[in-house]
Amino acid sequence: MRVLSGIQPSGKLHLGNYLGMMRQCVDLQSKGTSYIFIANYHALTTVSDPARLRQDTVDVALDFLACGLDPEKTVFFRQSDVPEVQELTWLLSVVCPMPMLELAHSYKDKVARGKEATLGLFAYPALMAADILLYQSDIVPVGKDQKQHLEITRELAGKFNRKFGEVFKIPEPYIPEAVAIVPGTDGQKMSKSYGNTIEISAPLKQIKNSIMGIVTDSTPLEEPKDPDACTVYKLHKLIASPESADEMAAKLRAGNYGYGHAKKEFYETFVAYFAEFRERRAALESDPARVESILQDGATRARAEALKTLRAARKAVGLE
Ligand code: ADP
Ligand code: TRP
Repeated sequence: MRVLSGIQPSGKLHLGNYLGMMRQCVDLQSKGTSYIFIANYHALTTVSDPARLRQDTVDVALDFLACGLDPEKTVFFRQSDVPEVQELTWLLSVVCPMPMLELAHSYKDKVARGKEATLGLFAYPALMAADILLYQSDIVPVGKDQKQHLEITRELAGKFNRKFGEVFKIPEPYIPEAVAIVPGTDGQKMSKSYGNTIEISAPLKQIKNSIMGIVTDSTPLEEPKDPDACTVYKLHKLIASPESADEMAAKLRAGNYGYGHAKKEFYETFVAYFAEFRERRAALESDPARVESILQDGATRARAEALKTLRAARKAVGLE
């Protein structure tokens, strides 16, 4: 089984990214060959500061390796180190219906929020399809917001195969229901665009402030509270042991237990959960040459695989 996913270096990674996508990538790496990449071509659709793009790329690499990505099991690389993906994007673009891209939520949302409607932003899903199809991926762990992009990928693969012969595997999204949409500190989907994140590698003081800032209702301390309507509990449940989660739920239901208490418990759980991550990240940060060599080795391995599919696609359409 081949697992593939990518993440854009377009800001600091947060608990939503970790639970919605990174943790699945780490867990699945023992199930077969994994390909994980830093989607820096995609990030260019929204980031126009080169120094920031470079820094965010390093940060994503550190975050992913620190959270347990094993370069022995996973081919870990920068998207732009395999430029073959651009040629495949073109071969998919010629079978890609414009109306399908016009319906893409992500494109419509970004334009609605004031981003310029560039060709790159519009063609984003075609590049993403090329990322996935180039490696003949079976499953793609992502959060729910990427589901439509996976549908577009499947559609393009099917169209290409019907027109030119079977070249691509049809991939499946992998979106566990419990973490499909991780809530942010305001209760809406956690996203860097909404300023409601808890960043996984921020200084502890900042993490504490973010957690203490989780929006709750005004039920007085002594009254019973509904855990399922409490964002602190919803987040706690995702990283705590089942016993600890049940305990918090019971305390909330019983009353005389305030949201401040719940936040403190969640913060402590968060710190313990990410303790090893923080240690590993600090060690990697002091060894940039090692990180660079992992990415370059990943690119070499990825490229060898990419060339096989690209060659088959080029033959199928008559370029060779
Ligand atoms: P953001 O919304 O902060 O810009 P991205 O769009 O870069 O995050 O998402 C990177 C990955 O993390 C994607 O697979 C996405 O589906 C997943 N993801 C992001 N936010 C969440 C969330 N709140 N819940 C679940 N998964 C998420
Ligand atoms: N669009 C994805 C996101 O914003 C990133 C991405 C690019 C991706 N190419 C991919 C994810 C291929 C999975 C597979 O999170």
